[in-house]
Amino acid sequence: MASKEYTLIQEEIDVDEICTHHHKDVSFSKRRHFVNGIVSITLAVSLAANALSIILHLLPGPHENCSNRTAFAAGLERNKQIAWTDDSDFASHNRTTWDRAWDTLNPDAGFVAISDDFTLRTGLHESQRWPWDSSKGLYLLQGYHNIHCLKPQSLHFTHMKHCLDALRQEIMCNADDTPRYSGLDQQGGTGNGQYRMCKDWAKLEQWANGHSACYKYKHGAESLERGVPLDRFKHCPDGSEPWKRFRGEG
Ligand SMILES: *[C@@H]1O[C@H](CO)[C@@H](O)[C@H](O)[C@H]1NC(C)=O
Ligand SMILES: *[C@@H]1O[C@H](CO)[C@@H](O)[C@H](O)[C@H]1NC(C)=O
Repeated sequence: MASKEYTLIQEEIDVDEICTHHHKDVSFSKRRHFVNGIVSITLAVSLAANALSIILHLLPGPHENCSNRTAFAAGLERNKQIAWTDDSDFASHNRTTWDRAWDTLNPDAGFVAISDDFTLRTGLHESQRWPWDSSKGLYLLQGYHNIHCLKPQSLHFTHMKHCLDALRQEIMCNADDTPRYSGLDQQGGTGNGQYRMCKDWAKLEQWANGHSACYKYKHGAESLERGVPLDRFKHCPDGSEPWKRFRGEG
């Protein structure tokens, strides 16, 4: 099903590699000085190359400025101050409040259709095609995969094990070194009310909706042996109907 119409540049983007671009430019410019002295034609070529290099740097890319912005979808930063709390609605003793809070989290919203252009630029692994546009791959944003692991499990025990381990991997990958204060507050546990910088989930959700794969999981007996039923991809948050366009062209 997945076609190999494009090749991957690399499996992973190494931040060091991205951030050393500027060093490469310095050596390039030194070499240019040397060559300039010899032939004027070379100077012209060099200037052209230099101009090209500047233009390339000015082009907006996912790795702009070696900043703290995430490399992928939403370019998020840790710029939202949020305190740890032990009494959010997600931990409410009131079952109605508790249910309502958890119902607001929709893992399906994390299925996005990403253009091959973007995939190539960011070095993402290739992915199966989105049914309604063969130039787009179907991806699940990691944050939403984590959320899905917190939701009621429709599958077997093996899936619960998969989810527990997925969350463990996530925790260890993040290796959060923020010290939580202890002992001063009798009400909460360690760190209660303490602030730290977070990424903005609402912004991620906004991006996900803007690139939605229109996916909605349905409980049912349908077999997945012949692939995911196409009906699951007909739930666009903006009400659009990309499958109609798809049929028109096909
Ligand atoms: C990235 O974040 C760190 C820690 O929050 C901060 O010290 C640093 O200045 C940030 N870098 C940029 C480019 O924003
Ligand atoms: C639980 O919360 C709901 C919704 O806020 C409220 O209507 C209800 O009275 C609460 N139940 C109890 C037992 O406090």
